[in-house]
Amino acid sequence: MTQDEGKREAARAALKYLRPGEPIGIGTGSTVNHFIDLLAPHKSDIPAAVSSSEASTARLKALGIPVVDLNEAGSLSLYVDGADETNRHLQLIKGGGGALTREKIIAAASRMFVCIADESKLVPALGKFPLPVEVLPMARSYVAREIVKLGGQPELRAGFTTDNGNPILDIHGLRIEKPLELEQQISMIAGVVTVGLFAHRPADLLILGGPKGVQELKA
Ligand code: A5P
Repeated sequence: MTQDEGKREAARAALKYLRPGEPIGIGTGSTVNHFIDLLAPHKSDIPAAVSSSEASTARLKALGIPVVDLNEAGSLSLYVDGADETNRHLQLIKGGGGALTREKIIAAASRMFVCIADESKLVPALGKFPLPVEVLPMARSYVAREIVKLGGQPELRAGFTTDNGNPILDIHGLRIEKPLELEQQISMIAGVVTVGLFAHRPADLLILGGPKGVQELKA
């Protein structure tokens, strides 16, 4: 089984958590793209979706699923999204696709966050995947210097701006022993919009696809 097939099987297993008649929160990335595609036969059950990126919005609309603003939808019963890394506590690194800010907002506003991934994303400690931090443009250098003090090596994501018009610093060299503390520390730096650590709001359920099938983990 390829990594991509693992992603697709995880996405397929998430379909059983759909709540007919209720709007759904949709994340971003290749795993979520599988999930969106698999929604096709269920679309009459989905009145609307709240999307975390322009890319997912386009894919949902192409399928005929209406995309609404989070303010209009209110709180969501279900949010489905991928991750770049996860630990056994379902704390995540996200933002490899640059959609971390909207993803964090929708995760916070959702009662159940189902994370779908291929099994290679499960790691003993977060941090091998460079930690994305979205910053306001004028704060880029200042935030980078503060991150160096925390032991990380920031690298500007070249040629990239988020859907919110901001740059991303990818932080290398962190072995994240205390995700809750680090999320708080980085979030406190002036100019940081969002850090891609999801520890205060981890996933509620992790669905991993791999050669032995699909496994579900709860925090
Ligand atoms: C998007 O910004 C990310 O948070 C994605 O959820 C993450 O990068 C997972 O992407 P894949 O599903 O493509 O692995």
